[in-house]
Amino acid sequence: MQQLSVRHLLGIKNLTENDIQLILGTAREFKDVINRPIKKVPSLRDITIANVFFENSTRTRLSFELAEKRLSADVVNFSASGSSVKKGETLLDTVNNILAMKVDMIVMRHSSPGAPHYLSDRIKANVVNAGDGTHEHPTQALLDSFSIQDKLGDVAGKRVAIIGDILHSRVALSNIFCLQKQGAEVMVCGPTTLIPKYINELGVKVSHDVREALNWCDVANVLRIQLERQQIKYFPSLREYSLYYGISKKMLDELDRPIVLMHPGPINRGVELTSDAADSHHSIILDQVENGVAVRMAVLYLLAQM
Ligand code: CP
Repeated sequence: MQQLSVRHLLGIKNLTENDIQLILGTAREFKDVINRPIKKVPSLRDITIANVFFENSTRTRLSFELAEKRLSADVVNFSASGSSVKKGETLLDTVNNILAMKVDMIVMRHSSPGAPHYLSDRIKANVVNAGDGTHEHPTQALLDSFSIQDKLGDVAGKRVAIIGDILHSRVALSNIFCLQKQGAEVMVCGPTTLIPKYINELGVKVSHDVREALNWCDVANVLRIQLERQQIKYFPSLREYSLYYGISKKMLDELDRPIVLMHPGPINRGVELTSDAADSHHSIILDQVENGVAVRMAVLYLLAQM
């Protein structure tokens, strides 16, 4: 059996192209499983997984929990709100207490970049990064690549434009690494203030013109403005942002050739996407969510073998 080169999934940066293909190939098998009348396999029957979320989440938390249950793992869920974190307990103490209850794997979302890396150096359990601040969101990038494969056959050779708030996005960085490792070309597009200064070191094209990005790409992966991570004003108003960077169905319909519209969610309807664009035939946004379960099953299953 093929194995991953890592014990933890902390980011895409430290995965090999082989790891990525192994995860995507395994996810394809699990996608068949979750479309059967009986959606469950006994693969992780002896494993207990804790989903430890210090930040809000709808898709990632539910998707991991469903993936774990479809693999027959035992699951416990922890949210920082309502926990003893509010009484001053440290991250390491919290996690060590969860592990003392014989937990084998930790899936963690945290607002601090590097939090899962810190844990992985200090605990025996496998750690899966479910999003660490503005740093990485590896399973989102993997499910995005899986969805591109599903729709366009292959990621290699495709042009992907990541449009929106690149500066505060963990999805952007994980996608850049994931797409480039598979041989795709990447462009980032947004206002100058929302493109990080280090972007030139990542070998991506940069545009500040959304129409140029849409005309260039095969896939537009649109990101929301992450107001919760913005301490200062990066643009005059959401209305002005929407005027310059918002994407409508009309803009997509008028392109010379069809492109695929993606968004990791949650969508701010009327800001980065109009409702008619988000719900149009161009969009694979809900397919991404469906594929997320299969991809997370693959990640958990492969890490459990390490
Ligand atoms: N895409 C994503 O991470 O969504 P949630 O914040 O709802 O998990």
